[in-house]
Amino acid sequence: MREEEARSELARLRQEIRRHDRLYYVLDAPEISDEEYDGLLRRLEELEGRFPALVTPDSPTQRVAGQPREGFQTVRHSRVLLSLEDAFNLQELAQFHQRVGRVLAGDETEYLVEPKIDGLTVVLRYRDGLFVQGATRGDGTVGEEVTANLRAVRSIPLHLEEAPPFLEVRGEVFLPRADFARLNEERQREGLPRFANPRNAAAGSLRQLDPRVTAGRPLDIFLYEVREGAEPPTQAAALEFLERLGLKVNPLRWPCADLEQVEQVIRDFAPRRDGLPYATDGLVIKVNSLAQQRELGERSRSPRWAIAYKYPAQEATTTVRDIVVQVGRTGALTPTALLDPVRLSGTVVSRATLHNEDQIREKDVRIGDQVVVRKAGEIIPEVVSVVREARTGRERPFVFPDRCPVCGAEVVREPGEAVARCTGVSCPAQLRERLLHFGSRGGMDIDGLGPVVVEALLVADLVHDAGDLYFLTREDLLKLPRKAEKSAANLLASIAASRERPLARLLFALGIRHVGERAATVLAARYRSLDALAVVAAEELRQVPEIGPAIAASVSAFFRQEQTRRMLEKLRRAGVHLAERGEAPPRAGPLQGKQLVLTGTMRELPRAAAEELIARAGGRVTSTVTRRTDYLVVGEDPGSKLARARELAVPQLTQEEFLRLVGKE
Ligand code: IVH
Repeated sequence: MREEEARSELARLRQEIRRHDRLYYVLDAPEISDEEYDGLLRRLEELEGRFPALVTPDSPTQRVAGQPREGFQTVRHSRVLLSLEDAFNLQELAQFHQRVGRVLAGDETEYLVEPKIDGLTVVLRYRDGLFVQGATRGDGTVGEEVTANLRAVRSIPLHLEEAPPFLEVRGEVFLPRADFARLNEERQREGLPRFANPRNAAAGSLRQLDPRVTAGRPLDIFLYEVREGAEPPTQAAALEFLERLGLKVNPLRWPCADLEQVEQVIRDFAPRRDGLPYATDGLVIKVNSLAQQRELGERSRSPRWAIAYKYPAQEATTTVRDIVVQVGRTGALTPTALLDPVRLSGTVVSRATLHNEDQIREKDVRIGDQVVVRKAGEIIPEVVSVVREARTGRERPFVFPDRCPVCGAEVVREPGEAVARCTGVSCPAQLRERLLHFGSRGGMDIDGLGPVVVEALLVADLVHDAGDLYFLTREDLLKLPRKAEKSAANLLASIAASRERPLARLLFALGIRHVGERAATVLAARYRSLDALAVVAAEELRQVPEIGPAIAASVSAFFRQEQTRRMLEKLRRAGVHLAERGEAPPRAGPLQGKQLVLTGTMRELPRAAAEELIARAGGRVTSTVTRRTDYLVVGEDPGSKLARARELAVPQLTQEEFLRLVGKE
């Protein structure tokens, strides 16, 4: 096709699509089926893909789904997915309440208040109980079909028992805060741009063309609306209905009889937000009765029966006293601003990350500057921007070092990477972080190998790699400052005990770049020994499901290093298990085919260890209690899962009973 022909067909297509948009969206009188409409859109996308120079900013493809990516189909929503109006203070909230009161003319209004999850809206469709389609919100009218990726979200049941013949529900997909922080660190190490907030991270993870990548990101979901399939009389009943079906619903919600109670919830929830494992950007206040909701109706983009209350931004202004550079486990240099202490969403903050050299340059952060800092769902706050107006002229630009501030080795930045790295093979800062990681809970879990001890071991020149830990003697430890007989013995015992850790834990503990817990588990299950893994070429590793090119290249480079060989030799001599024991993975463990849910903390048993025991016994851990849950393992301070288990008569296990069941006691 010539460009001229394409130009006229594009113009015709765009005009036609706009006409159907108007018929459907404005006039509510569609003339064609969704499939026909999709066909037009797809043809437009295809042509624009072939002639990118002809894409116009007002083309329906540019509006429809933000940026529909090649490979995603579009879905026209059955009804427009409304958004919410915001209230930024109690006065705006009171105005909302008055408007509601005027329409309902004196009738009593009860509200249901829910946390506003900072995630990405999705719509799920179930036909005869089977999950058949999932889509993003897009522009509210047309979204992207992301069924395959949503299937990778473990808290979305693929099958519901006792569901109506057709069910459409709406909810919010999100990335838990800890995973958001971890993902950003990983991306920074890989030289990829960081996600600005949990919402972007969830969107980025869901809109992956490869569902295996989505599967590697622990996305979660809360559902909050029944769009089709049932008409519960209230919002509270709708949530209970969703819960009964086995769908995941936020256990936090507060019925309020009047405005005062809503305001009380707003005040009470404020200090709790930081402690939640997911990010919230406020509360949603909804008129509880569906009959009243119908009476109130909606505007073009938002309902009149609900409002989002937004808490004040979690930002503060302070002064940059200095900028220092920290060296991580893989040699990555992270510039950090040292700040005048300032209160920020409930804690006092005195450091904030500047991420990397480019970020310092882009934001033009100088020593002495007044800066805005923010906690974006992460534990370490970040510098958002500089208050230019406050400059006095005495601020000093920061010069990024070309030598490692700890070992003096050259710093390199690979082309296309944002991260600069120390190249020193025996950089003490890297070694320190590597040792801490090696002994960490998810790694070899060596009790007593904390920052103080590691620092002392390095200063005394007793350890040059993780292998040396296993050759430490009582006398070595007693020479360390403040090391008493008892704690030395304990440390030696926990180092010795760590020799028995399963291969996946060892592999993770080695701290190979890009190899997180999931990749370590996959590689251990596949190769079953370090010796076998060490000789696999990167090309072969790349074929393993869930192992991408970055992991493959990094694993194979790791095992090619002389340093690695030396360390593995030491581990071998020390009797550390470098292979999975036994023949094949246990097929018929005591929990074969069982689904377990964990709640509360267990004193003797970190969560990762419990999950591992369950997996080894043939069972599976899920996050929500449903009718199909076989056991709920109950620790201290159990959450709402316990109540749910009681409701569904799901058997419970104490920590001791659980250990007995998996043969550990
Ligand atoms: S109700 C008509 N409830 O906030 C129904 N929305 O800023 C409108 N959101 O687009 C949505 N948590 O993506 C509702 N508990 C919750 C929510 C929630 C998060 C999101 C939703 C909406 C956005 C509006």
